[in-house]
Amino acid sequence: MLQADAEQIFDAKCAMCHTKTMPTDRANMFAPPLMGVMRHVKMAYPNKEDAVNFMVDYVQNPTKEKSICMPQKIAKFGLMPSQKGNITPEELKEVAEWMFDNFPPANFVGRGMKNRPTFSSFDTNGDGKITPKEFTAFQNAHMQSRMGQRGQMKNSNGMMSTRKNRSSFTDFDLNNNSVITKDEFLKVRAKKQAARAKAGYPMYNAVNALSFESIDKDSNGKITLDEFNNRYNF
Ligand code: HEC
Repeated sequence: MLQADAEQIFDAKCAMCHTKTMPTDRANMFAPPLMGVMRHVKMAYPNKEDAVNFMVDYVQNPTKEKSICMPQKIAKFGLMPSQKGNITPEELKEVAEWMFDNFPPANFVGRGMKNRPTFSSFDTNGDGKITPKEFTAFQNAHMQSRMGQRGQMKNSNGMMSTRKNRSSFTDFDLNNNSVITKDEFLKVRAKKQAARAKAGYPMYNAVNALSFESIDKDSNGKITLDEFNNRYNF
């Protein structure tokens, strides 16, 4: 199927709710705009195949549990009504691929990110507000979603993902013994969330949304580097 066809299907079946550009009048929004949806989908599913599979399933069988949408968005818009019957699974797959390939557009800056301070404006004297590590983690997450867009995140040994995961893993591994205990996980997460809240940032960091149990795949009470790196593979 041609790109244009996939876009036409989107226009006919999805665009009445998911606008392709940022609406100027938020009061008339029925659903998150397409670029916001895709930003979040890519944060949770950086590689294309996973993202497309997720979307094909979600659009037909949406549930709160599966949703990668921020809870406040669901509270605002309600859960998406199932599109089963409105669109065939084949069409849906084409549309999902088109969405992944084209959104968010390269120049998209998410809400709440426009006025983000630069690194130099971060407080680096360790008073616990925003650490450089957190800034790096944010940057890497951003890069990860951009790279996912180009379909390059499949290789978990890729330089980018290694760099990203190394820095975040050490964030959590407080005593540097190469495993993260639940205690460490909760402590660091609480600290990160407090810092974020204090700085007025939205809670979009995907790490914060995952539970310890969902990362600790073998349920032995410790998160290894491997498990941490695979935390988005459910
Ligand atoms: C009647 C309005 C409506 C239509 C039509 C609609 N959506 Fe949605 N969609 C929503 C709402 C509301 C949300 C946010 C709440 C949620 O995630 O369930 C959403 C969320 C999503 C998400 C994010 C899933 C997640 O995990 O939160 C995807 C992907 C999506 N829609 C794709 C589509 C596609 C593809 C179509 C067209 C086939 C479509 N939607 C048609 C209302 C709609």
